[in-house]
Order: sequence, then C-alpha cells, then structure tokens
Amino acid sequence: MCQDNPVKPISCIPACMAALAAAAPGQPASGAPPYRNAKLAVEERVEDLLSRMTPRERAEMLAGGGWMESHANQRLGIPAIKMADGPLGVRNWAGPSAVTNSASVAPVHATAFPAGIAMAAAWDPELVERTARAVAQEVKALGRDMILGPTVNINRVPLWGRNFEGYGEDPYLASRLAVAYIRGVQGEGVIPSVKHFAANNQEFERHRMDETISERALEEIYYPAFRAAVQEAGAWAVMSAYEKLNGHWCAENPSLLGDTLKKRWGFRGFVISDWGSTYSTAATIDAGLDLEMPGGEPMRHWLAQPSTKRDGNGGGWLEADKVMAALAAGTVKQEAVDDGVRRLLRVMFTAGLFDHPHTPGGAVDTPEQRAVARTAATEGIVLLKNAANALPLDAGHTRSLAVIGPNAKVARTGGGGSSLVLPNYAVAPLEGIKEIAGSRVEVRYALGAPMEGESASASAQAMRDEAVALARRSDAAVVVVGLSSRLESEGFDRKSMDLPAGQDELIEAVAAANPRTTVVVVAGSPVTMTRWIDRVPAVLFAWYGGQEGGHAIADVLFGTANPSGKLPVTFPREWRDATAYGHYPGENLRVAYAEGIYVGYRGFDRRNVEPLFPFGHGLSYTRFEYSGLAVSPARVAPGAPVTVTMTLRNAGSRAGAEVVQVYLHQLHPSEDRPPKELKAFRRVMLAAGESQTVKLELAPQAMSFYSAARKEWVTEPGMFEVLAGASSRDIRLKATFEVGR
Ligand code: BGC
Repeated sequence: MCQDNPVKPISCIPACMAALAAAAPGQPASGAPPYRNAKLAVEERVEDLLSRMTPRERAEMLAGGGWMESHANQRLGIPAIKMADGPLGVRNWAGPSAVTNSASVAPVHATAFPAGIAMAAAWDPELVERTARAVAQEVKALGRDMILGPTVNINRVPLWGRNFEGYGEDPYLASRLAVAYIRGVQGEGVIPSVKHFAANNQEFERHRMDETISERALEEIYYPAFRAAVQEAGAWAVMSAYEKLNGHWCAENPSLLGDTLKKRWGFRGFVISDWGSTYSTAATIDAGLDLEMPGGEPMRHWLAQPSTKRDGNGGGWLEADKVMAALAAGTVKQEAVDDGVRRLLRVMFTAGLFDHPHTPGGAVDTPEQRAVARTAATEGIVLLKNAANALPLDAGHTRSLAVIGPNAKVARTGGGGSSLVLPNYAVAPLEGIKEIAGSRVEVRYALGAPMEGESASASAQAMRDEAVALARRSDAAVVVVGLSSRLESEGFDRKSMDLPAGQDELIEAVAAANPRTTVVVVAGSPVTMTRWIDRVPAVLFAWYGGQEGGHAIADVLFGTANPSGKLPVTFPREWRDATAYGHYPGENLRVAYAEGIYVGYRGFDRRNVEPLFPFGHGLSYTRFEYSGLAVSPARVAPGAPVTVTMTLRNAGSRAGAEVVQVYLHQLHPSEDRPPKELKAFRRVMLAAGESQTVKLELAPQAMSFYSAARKEWVTEPGMFEVLAGASSRDIRLKATFEVGR
C-alpha cells in the first residue's frame, strides 16, 4: 500500500483509501456526516471531522488517553488508537515495563519473533516484510491498531543495551530493512512507529544525555533509515527519542521534527513521543510533536512515583488544560494544534480505524506465524568460524553429544525491556538438539556455569568439573553461552563486552577436554572472544532467536539448514577497538560523537584496525565463487543509476544462500569519505553447482555524500571503485566507473 510513489507517499492517501473503501462495510447511515463515508478521500474526511471539533476537542487529541491508547472522542465517534509494544512481536500493553512483565497482569501471549539484529543478520528484506506482516496480523487479532516498532537506531556502541532491537551499524542495511518492516505492517492496515528519532544509541542516562552529533554524521549514519522509512515506505508514524540532540530534547527539537522530518522529508504522518520524554507544552507542540504518550490517569499515577521522576521521565505537558492555556496565552497557535490533529486523523482514516475497527479474538501464534519465526531465526544465524569443516555435526561420527552452558536449557527469546514478548512456548537449544538428534545421538546436558544473576545449585568449580567430565566422555560438545534479557536490556548498557562471569572459563575448560567443541553464542551484540576463539574449531552466533530459536540452532548444528547469516555489526576484538571507544558514555551528561561518520566498519577500515570478525562476515557449509564483475555504464551522468552484474557460483556440494555485498569507494573525493560503504546487497539461494548472474542497481544516491559546507547531498564527478564480495573484508571483485560532469 502506498508504495508506488517513493517521494511523497502520503500524497497517495486518496488512492490508498479507495482500496480500503472497497472493503468498507457498505454505505454510511443516511444523514451521517461526510467523515463517516469511507468512499470519500482521506483529506476530505479529515477536514470535515476537524471542522466539527471544538478547540478543546482538538487539544485533547494531542495527549494519550491511557498507557497505550490515544484519546477517544465519544461525541464524534473518534476511536482511540490502541497500541502495543514491539517490534519483535506483540507485547502485553497493560502498563509500564515493570507491570507488563509481572505475573499479576493477565498475560498476552503472542509469537516471539527473532530480535531485530537477528533479522538484520539474514540480510533479507523480503523475510523482514513477511515477519512484519505476521506481527501486524497478530496486532489486529489482539484488537490493537499500532505496533511500536521498528527500532532503526544504529548500533554505535557494542555495549548499548538495545543493540538487539535494531538492524546493526550500517545505514543502508538498516534502511532496506526499515522499509521492508513498514511495508509489511502498513500493508496489513496496522500503524507502525519508526523509533527512536533520532540517534538513541545508548541507554546510559537516556533521559538527560545531550548528544553532540555533526550534521554530516546525522545525515549519513543516523538519519538514513528514518528517511527511507518516511520517503520510501511512507511511514505513518515516527517516535521521537528520549535524549537531547545538539542541545534540544528530541521531543521538542525543531530542527529534528519540524525542519528535517516534516519539511525536508515531507513526512505527513504523526510524531509520537517516547513514553515519558516531554518537558514543555509550547516548545513541544511548536517543534512538531503530535501525540504525547502515555496519557490520562495511568500517566499521572506513573509520574507520581519517585523512581519515574528520578529516572528523568517527563510528561503531562500536552494535557488539554495546558494546551488550552497555552492557546489562550498565545504561546501556541491554533494552526499548530490543528496540524497535529490532522496528522493523527489522516493516519487513522488511512489505516481504516473508523471503517473497520480491529476486534480482539483472532488467531495468534498460528502454524504459519511459527513457520515465519523459525525461518527468520534460522536465516539470521551466523557461522563465524568453522575450521576443518567441524560443522555440521556428522551423525555418523557423533554418537554422543554434550550440550553445556547457561543458554542451553533456557530459551532466551529476546533482550529485555519493552520489546520482550511473552510466547506460548519457546524452544531452548537443548530441546531443539534433542528433537533432531532423536535416537541417533545420545544427548546429555550440564549447566557448566550459571547465568550471571541467576541462582546456582553448586560451586562454580563443581559445575565446571561436571561439564568437563561430560565433554570428555562425549564424541563432541556444544557450549551455549551468551547473555540474557536481564543483562542486555532497554534501560541500561552493558558494563563490558565480556561474556558474563564464568563463561570464558567454561569454554576453555570444555575445549581442552574435547577438541570437537562448538560454541554457540546467544546474545544481541558482540562479545569478547579473545580468550578462546583460537581454541575452538567452530562458533555460531545465534542472537536472540525468538520462540523458535532452539530449533534454528539445532538445524544449523546438524546441517538440516545451511547457515547464511552475515554480521550486521563489526565484532571488535575488544571494546577498546570499537569506533565509539573514548567517546562513550560522555561526561557531565554530554556525549560528543567524535568519530563522526566513522562508525563500525567505516572506522575500522579508516584506522586500519583488524576486527575479530568484520561487518558482513558469515560462513556457509558450501563455497561460493564470484566472477565477471561488470559495471554499466562505465561513465554515468550525475544523478543516473549504475548497474552492477557478476556471476555467483555455488562451488560446493550442497545448496546454500550467499549474501552478495557491493561496497562503493570514491577515489578522489574533495571531502573525506570512508574507504568503503555498503550500497547494495542481495541474498541469493543456489543449488549445488548452480551459477546465477546477480544484477544489482546502485541508485544515484549511492554515489553521494553529505557536504556540511554546502548543506546538501553532493555527487562529485570522478572515479568510483565498486567492491563486490562476501564481507566488508572479503572483497572478491573490483571494477571502476566514472561519474561525468
Ligand atoms: C521505549 C519505547 C517503547 C515505549 C512504550 C519506552 O520506554 O523506549 O521503545 O515503545 O517505552 O513501552
């Protein structure tokens, strides 16, 4: 829906509405006002309804009606927008995180899909769109209208507590996936919320931190996914971030919301605040915030708690009394209020909220949705290392298998905070492994080391000894380590990149006891592996795989599935190698993004630092050969696209998918540019021995950079190098083309 016009998507609302109108149940009752007529154009309905609203009724629309609902107007029959957290599935909407996650609240069960970072590791926009569709179907089935996702903030710091929610460190990859997610959700008539605008890259002091970020870094790194969401996918809603950006809270930042989002990008949907992120009435409305959340009694109750204020939350500023007072005092203009109301109504009509409301009671966690969750979990797994083809486990030579570790028997479906979904069931790796092993392989388990923060029944030494003994008498061992939703979560950052206490020692001890040891890491961001990476033949990075994660891990271990995931973030050897090191978490509530555009692999390339595993890295059980790179035309006018073709061959003996990556490098730019930047990619599935011509287009924007001096995106004439390969550090083919004058 609304995808035909990539530049001004909401201007196609009448067309979208025509489609929705066709499905609307019959004519409006005779004498009903025009806004009730599903056959009229959205803008006509908006104007008609707005004209019937009193100033107070308009003001009321700008604040939430509850914890997860916008304000409903009984007199005019304006429904509330009923929201639920995401983006990894539908989360219970009953109240603040602490309440929502507590057992005392009637639980809402929904499919737990893999974390955003796992989805990113699949490099498969079509899969993201399919997953988002499934999420949106559950939103509707549960009687809600809006999902608070996707999270598209860039992984700047490996310690960020919410790395697992987002799509990694690269703006192009994040953009493609953001667009796919929004298309999936909006295609179902559900409202997404692209969050958190902008540059929510750390949890530490997220309510108070003032980030200094250069215009160029914003344009090239932190904005692109939001911009693509707005301009290509026609996103209906954007959520502002908590922190201050260049001196202004994001919720009252005129340059961010007004100038960039609404004026420059032409956004015609509504801006929703993050929960508890507002600090003023006039400045917030003026800047361009349209809906303050949460609202009503739940907001007042929450703000009255000392811990809420202590954390730095703010709210209650857009309540009708305050807005009316500001209107009377002349500090807020009626047009600004009307603009917000228009935006809300426009989205509500477009999504069909007036014409076919979503009613609870539909099916969730269906076999189809489970299948999508399993595919997504499988495609996202990254085979980091596989010396001497240690994997897949050969059932012929593996009669007994030791499964060890704090993440083996517990299904860690996602990281912590507002994205955590409560599924009906969740498959732990041990369960998945036992299922696939059947009677062929004897599977035995030992905890080995308790997860930090969880209780232990014996001493660390005794547990490790038990695991080592088990590994010694087994043909092979799988050690499943990583993090948990208590250690990696919204609300705080990790203190270190290291694995939790006891896990490195456990891996070392098991690997010493059994050379056929595979490590599986379940986590949402890079972990330090230096102590043991050279002592184990095989490592899988499984992320948080949602409720089907355990099946996916088992499928890859035994070769039922051939891994094809690629890292959407650089894995530094150590935290001090990371590009944000030294510029995080800031001092005196200020943090300067001093690395500028050199985030992730851009910075590793530029400083010539060897990562542990580069951006884009991921192995397969088969081998791919690249040949015949051609770029056409060899000389292109500025503003014209370039076509890149090459031949990809599966040179191994089993079917598999490769993610072909195309990076671009401008040879002599007038301003500093990264040594390479991802500008195209494609996941290609090939049968054993099969070859395919892979054709990718480099859009005109791919050649440009943001010039702070000129305050615009610039494409310079000159030579460009096309680098095609299997990762950012495994470039197989190079070619050049020229941008003419
Ligand atoms: C999070 C948002 C979330 C909202 C509502 C906030 O704390 O930052 O991502 O959507 O809460 O739960």
